Amino acid sequence: MTDADSILVLGHGGLLGRAVVQACQGRCWVVEGGRKAYDLSQPASKGFCHRFALSGRPLENTESADKRLLSLTREIAEDEKALETVHQGLDLLRLFICREKPAVVINCAGYTDVDKAETEPELAMAVNARGAATLAEACREAGSHLVHISTDYVFDGKNKNPYREGDETFPKGAYGKSKLKGEKLVAKIMPAALIVRSAWIFGPGRPGFVDNVLTRALKGEPVRVVTDEVGSPTFSRDLAETLVWLAMKRVQGLLHVVNQGQASRYELARQALRLYGLDPDLVRRAQKKDLNTPAERPGYSVLDTRRLQRITGRTMPSWLDALGRYIALLKEDAA
Ligand SMILES: NC(=O)c1ccc[n+]([C@@H]2O[C@H](COP(=O)([O-])OP(=O)(O)OC[C@H]3O[C@@H](n4cnc5c(N)ncnc54)[C@H](OP(=O)(O)O)[C@@H]3O)[C@@H](O)[C@H]2O)c1
Repeated sequence: MTDADSILVLGHGGLLGRAVVQACQGRCWVVEGGRKAYDLSQPASKGFCHRFALSGRPLENTESADKRLLSLTREIAEDEKALETVHQGLDLLRLFICREKPAVVINCAGYTDVDKAETEPELAMAVNARGAATLAEACREAGSHLVHISTDYVFDGKNKNPYREGDETFPKGAYGKSKLKGEKLVAKIMPAALIVRSAWIFGPGRPGFVDNVLTRALKGEPVRVVTDEVGSPTFSRDLAETLVWLAMKRVQGLLHVVNQGQASRYELARQALRLYGLDPDLVRRAQKKDLNTPAERPGYSVLDTRRLQRITGRTMPSWLDALGRYIALLKEDAA
């Protein structure tokens, strides 16, 4: 992976990861097998990378039209020396990064089930904090720029105005706590990394909030949606394009990247139905306390993007414009 622009995308099977792969336009690598090849929750052995960075040999890879895929496990299996030392999935990832030295690693992999994290906080922490830390160590050793994704759920939602990067964090749930810990560890291990907080992502690939509301409405079922959660809905494709731009410019530090504007979940759901040509009145008002989800979410987590605008010199499209483009895609697929 000698190209100065080579990008390794982790979590390429996820909602954001697949949009990033698309935005990379053939410049990216993914580790085939995803979490089956490298499990971010598994601890890695220290000092591993250096040995293999020195004794590494060129990796064989398969070229495809739009991306180069590499089967890390197959490669390791052919390397007897590596097999002696590799015990855990994360070791494989470190090995790969240290050998291949991608110019940039964009980490879209993470434990993302906000409610389930309440019952398995250790796993959320292992993936989102310790896994991210190990990745940062590998990137530091390999000299790769790291772009790590975090979330608006690091805030408690008590603000009345959009949260700026430097505002005090106070996550309410286990997911937010694990993401915040991940941010802190990555920043400590690799101060030159870019940590991007985004929010309320929708897009093709994995069904999320918008898709679930539409699925119910298409069956004619009413949907109860909360009015007291206000955030920054964001299209995976807009976010991905910006991430790749920031990565290429080697931007560092902490940055909020979301579509412009703000909406409540209720408003987002109504607009999705309206844009799809369904009756927005199928969306019924609810409050967080009525739905009683296992994890408490911030009531207000709109992210301020002034730093992003200063750096890029451009403004992200509004969430409504972005939602319109996503719904147009869905309708095209359904036709
Ligand atoms: N979705 C949102 O609204 C939102 C909002 C703010 C921030 N974020 C952040 O954005 C990033 C991407 O989120 P997303 O919505 O694209 O999530 P997603 O669709 O759930 O995808 C997560 C990816 O991480 C991989 N993964 C999960 N556990 C892993 C493990 N133990 N080891 C290695 N890989 C693992 C998954 O692999 P499999 O494909 O095998 O499952 C998947 O590819 C995350 O850091 C998330 O915290 C998301």
